[in-house]
Amino acid sequence: MSSELRVEQLRKVFTTGKPPVAKAAVDDVSFTIAAGEIVVLLGPSGCGKTTTLRCVAGLEHPTSGRIVIGGTMYTDPQAGVLVPPRSRNLGMVFQSYAVWPHMTVRQNVAYPLKARGTPRAELNKAVAQALDLVELGSYADRPVTQLSGGQMQRVALARSMVYQPQILLLDEPLSNLDAQLRLRLRDDLRRIIKRVGLTALYVTHDQTEAVVLGDRIGVMRDGKLLQLDTPSEIYNRPADLFVAGFTGASNVIDGTVVSRDGAFGVIAVGANERLTARLGDGVSEGSAVKVALRPDNVGLSPVGDGPNRFKVRVASRHYQGTQTVYELTLAGATIEALEVGSAARHDVDSEIVVALPPEICWAYAV
Ligand SMILES: Nc1ncnc2c1ncn2[C@@H]1O[C@H](COP(=O)(O)OP(=O)(O)OP(=O)(O)O)[C@@H](O)[C@H]1O
Ligand SMILES: [Mg+2]
Repeated sequence: MSSELRVEQLRKVFTTGKPPVAKAAVDDVSFTIAAGEIVVLLGPSGCGKTTTLRCVAGLEHPTSGRIVIGGTMYTDPQAGVLVPPRSRNLGMVFQSYAVWPHMTVRQNVAYPLKARGTPRAELNKAVAQALDLVELGSYADRPVTQLSGGQMQRVALARSMVYQPQILLLDEPLSNLDAQLRLRLRDDLRRIIKRVGLTALYVTHDQTEAVVLGDRIGVMRDGKLLQLDTPSEIYNRPADLFVAGFTGASNVIDGTVVSRDGAFGVIAVGANERLTARLGDGVSEGSAVKVALRPDNVGLSPVGDGPNRFKVRVASRHYQGTQTVYELTLAGATIEALEVGSAARHDVDSEIVVALPPEICWAYAV
């Protein structure tokens, strides 16, 4: 039975060093995952993803906050509630292939059910189903040491799902695999989790993984959850400059807001140019802003008239086979533009016109 997960005002402070310094690894994080939903926590190294996950698992005792699973309180340090990990009925998959090397594939997957005293007939059925799900049915009697990394990770996944946990927790489960396998297993993972209908909390620093796997993505930085939204919202309406940058909007243009009209505004950029952009919260006339946009959103061959047309110079060109990255000089800034396809159409030092659609230019207060 998959359950809803509620994390409320979670805070975990670690005290380290001499003299001791207290630092919040998780700082007032709240979110809810609906039953059967996959939420991915995304953020740079050290932002508090694993600590959040370990608090949900009961492996870490938070400083304050509450964790409610399926309507039952599992963690509430203020009230002295801390249900131990083994009593939470959660599945866990980690970066390292945590399989038991002296066992076969079947024995590994059967282990959690044995430990729970599941009757043999039921156990056999559940193990066979779990192995089918991860497409390892024909490997059941192999020692796990004779498997590839990807296969071992699928054993770990089958083992963490075989007892129908309330929630599946995954901490960078693909990061030890080579690039090709990572892509395959990434797609498989979502399909498998969805087929079983599990509630999943998945942690990664890989933005593509987050987009492919998550129903929603939570972007973290310095222990804080900055935005929790669908992949499309995160990519099209990043809440702040960090979320924009971390999800690939690497171009930043400085400017000052000249006027605001609803969600959009006109921004003075460069020597004497005007850019229309979507304005973030707290941005008003006279505000200094940074405008972020994605290299793949720079329109390189616009047709006809439209807003935000700029004459730019091609400063450099990096041909990458299936795409070309250009550096363009625009309003005193250097921005990157991406051209998809094997033909590079623009020459270095040429002057071209680009279009920056206002809805994908996001202005944030500095
Ligand atoms: N046991 C601990 N004692 C002291 N500090 C810790 C401990 N565990 C984590 N931290 C600190 O808490 C912060 C968050 O760590 P955490 O492991 O949650 O990050 P993460 O987002 O999972 O990073 P990564 O992507 O590198 O795995 C870091 O600054 C880390 O150094
Ligand atoms: Mg981690």
